[in-house]
Amino acid sequence: MGYELPVYAKRGLTLVRGRGAIVWDDRGRAYIDCIGGHGVAVVGHSHPRVVQAIQRQAERLITCPGTFDNDVRTRYIDRLTHYTPPGLEYVFLTNSGTEAVEAAIKFARLATGRTKLIATMRGFHGRTMGALSLTWNKKYRDPFAPLLPDVIHIPFGDEEAAHAHIDAETAAVIVEPVQGEGGVRPAPPGYLQTLRTLCDEKGALLIVDEVQTGFGRTGAMFAVEHWETTPDILCLAKGIGGGIPMGAIVTHSGVAHHVKPGHHGSTFGGNPLACAAGLAVLDILEEEDLVQKARVDGERLLQALRALPSPRIREVRGMGLMVGIELRERVTPYLRRLQEEHRVLALPAGPNVIRLLPPLNIKEEELDRVVDALRQVLTSPAL
Ligand SMILES: Cc1ncc(COP(=O)(O)O)c(C=O)c1O
Repeated sequence: MGYELPVYAKRGLTLVRGRGAIVWDDRGRAYIDCIGGHGVAVVGHSHPRVVQAIQRQAERLITCPGTFDNDVRTRYIDRLTHYTPPGLEYVFLTNSGTEAVEAAIKFARLATGRTKLIATMRGFHGRTMGALSLTWNKKYRDPFAPLLPDVIHIPFGDEEAAHAHIDAETAAVIVEPVQGEGGVRPAPPGYLQTLRTLCDEKGALLIVDEVQTGFGRTGAMFAVEHWETTPDILCLAKGIGGGIPMGAIVTHSGVAHHVKPGHHGSTFGGNPLACAAGLAVLDILEEEDLVQKARVDGERLLQALRALPSPRIREVRGMGLMVGIELRERVTPYLRRLQEEHRVLALPAGPNVIRLLPPLNIKEEELDRVVDALRQVLTSPAL
């Protein structure tokens, strides 16, 4: 008998199939999936175009180390950098978000010759030792101390704190444009621009972690567009590969010219299978106009949720189809009721925020059903 190490709080469901925004369990029951693989399924589950791209590529070439060029990888890198902010055209491909953050940490140290890293309170950047050092929640960090030295956490959105702490010793500041795990909190207007200016003044790099916000999630291809800010390093993952493990950092020549062979690497990073899936995702986002759809549907969803007459709701926040409903109480019983009674899957963001990360191509009637389910659980008598 084999056992999974019990690192996950299980939801009591075995999922066996998915299509679009719907997943089915092993008893054939259908659920509207607003978890979407923790924000991975931006183009929905098993999109036929992704499936076909993977099938075709699997027959040609699945693995190809970075020491060889590969036609699909070259095409992917070229295509990805059409969408990234101007000047960001050097790519390192990884297999996950945390690996993208690790790469960003290494290249920031390399390019600046400094070690001090500034992250934000409530920030989440992954669980490998470097990324975990930047993640804020003590629950994740404390059992594994000591982590990276020279890391501080400043209050998210607080410009004064940023002024006080970004200095000539700082290698990089890392920030999510919308904190995901930390409660679905968009950065205040002007905040990323201020970080950009301070980093420029002190010779530090600005790393923007768009692992969760990227690929249309917030109603822009990348959330930095809402703040009109260009980072030095952009971290990407989750939706990038349509469900295939994949991640990336994208940076500019100022960082790239420090990088020499041997500085970093990954056996699987940039494999042709993931790159083929990544190309299909970009095609789908364009063909189905999903970035615009996320913006429009997101506004409609926020409006509908803000209109719910529930004293349990403290605040509804979000951007595009990344939405958080902060309650005055713990969310676990509500998530359970959504799942068991309404067949809607939603995830927490901290103890008292319900987070919705549906596929961007979720149908209008499916979103209506989600709102209806939320209305029922949040306005019914106390649990
Ligand atoms: C903003 C952010 N950064 C990094 C990560 C880590 O990504 P992964 O789980 O692929 O390692 C996550 C995952 O939730 C995330 O939301």
